[in-house]
Amino acid sequence: MEKLSRVSIVGLGKLGAPMAAAIASKGIQVIGVDLDDNKVAAINRLAAPVYEPGLSELLQKSAGYVSATTDLYQAVLDSQATFIVVATPSQPDGHFSLEYVLKACQVIGEALKKKDAWHTVVVTSTVSPLSMDRHIRPTLESISGKTAGKDFGLAYNPEFIALGTVIRDFLNPDLILIGESDKTTGDLLQDLYERVLDKKPYYARMNFVNAELTKLAINTFVTTKISFANMIARICERLPEADADTVTTALGMDSRIGSKYLRGAISYGGPCFPRDNLALIALARQVGITADIAETTDSFNRWQNQWLAEFIYQHLTLGQKVGILGIAYKTGSDVITESPAIYVMEHLLQKGISIIAYDPAAHTNARSIFGENIIWADSAAECIAQAEVIVILTTWPEFKNLPSNAWSPDGVIRKVIDCWRFLPEIADHPKVDYIPLGKSVQAPVTQTSVETSA
Ligand SMILES: NC(=O)c1ccc[n+]([C@@H]2O[C@H](COP(=O)([O-])OP(=O)(O)OC[C@H]3O[C@@H](n4cnc5c(N)ncnc54)[C@H](O)[C@@H]3O)[C@@H](O)[C@H]2O)c1
Repeated sequence: MEKLSRVSIVGLGKLGAPMAAAIASKGIQVIGVDLDDNKVAAINRLAAPVYEPGLSELLQKSAGYVSATTDLYQAVLDSQATFIVVATPSQPDGHFSLEYVLKACQVIGEALKKKDAWHTVVVTSTVSPLSMDRHIRPTLESISGKTAGKDFGLAYNPEFIALGTVIRDFLNPDLILIGESDKTTGDLLQDLYERVLDKKPYYARMNFVNAELTKLAINTFVTTKISFANMIARICERLPEADADTVTTALGMDSRIGSKYLRGAISYGGPCFPRDNLALIALARQVGITADIAETTDSFNRWQNQWLAEFIYQHLTLGQKVGILGIAYKTGSDVITESPAIYVMEHLLQKGISIIAYDPAAHTNARSIFGENIIWADSAAECIAQAEVIVILTTWPEFKNLPSNAWSPDGVIRKVIDCWRFLPEIADHPKVDYIPLGKSVQAPVTQTSVETSA
């Protein structure tokens, strides 16, 4: 079988556009496809169609290898493989909607009918277990009149990237997960990755349903791990002289546990973690099992948002304004989906608190929720200047580089609640009352108090 040297990618969004740039940057011809003319035009002038650090630079480096079109049918005819990276929104029951995937499959099926050469269809969008066997394969087969694994290749190959570091994550994965219709399809995809990736990953190759379940299981496990670390942090805050970093650093050194995603801070958010967790819960329910662990992770995660909003509220005195530093769900992204900052701001607004907010990337998205109900600062310094209680919700590097006088331009003390213990250096600032989450907020234990409580 001919090696893949020309691929098409349907969906040039937050994942598809960086994927297109990363693959093209390794000398593979990439035809991007999207319904959105603006995204197509952006790719054709080598400009980033979505916010993602490093994407414009990588597109420019890929000149001559990447182009885009709205014509999916032609893109399939002109390429050897098509990656489907369209959105799969969550439905009310937690399962992922296949609406956009199946629309793309209908066009791909038509093109497959016409095409004589072997073509590989790769589903990268996250789908619920059994979607490949019950919906995607039958749609492609009925429209093309061909059989997956015999006349064309079909794979489920989801990604484990985080927004803000999509390019690095895509090129340096721990594992490549491939559900395959047949060995040739898996071999073709593995060979492509061997030429594109910067790191040698583990190739986990299996049937469709195992791959669909593995994708959800990995993200649910990671969210459970995050929640575990957050639980330790919440305990530390109430335990004399306790420190979440000391505990989780030691925990992470145990190789059975590992140190990643064990920070002990605030709720996870974004477009993947919360809904992958809910999709596993929905799947368990569908097969008659209660996924207690996943359910507890989800409810603990939601409770923490409430807890944080209330914690901030408790630190306010009458008339004080809150300055929010960081609105996106994570650093390096403009995405506000399930962001703890959004929950906190909604909660405080309901209580009548005035809010000043600043984020280097997320104002446009956050404005669609809050409009002019809050004050939008043009910089972190401007945000701090206008508020009495400051909350650091994400770890944008520019918050580290603020000059000392930015923390109190008028000589008035600022309370700074640091959700990530990101700025320990300001703890000694004479005009800052520094409150790091995850550390004991009680007085140090004295011998007498230990004896008294024993
Ligand atoms: N964003 C992430 O962090 C992330 C991480 C891992 C997996 N995923 C998965 O990847 C998939 C895509 O996510 P995203 O965040 O990139 O979505 P997105 O909404 O940012 O982008 C999807 C794009 O697909 C386009 N599109 C939809 N239907 C189309 C069609 N028929 N033909 C051509 N283009 C079409 C849309 O116009 C849009 O530009 C989802 O299944 C998601 O769960 C996303």
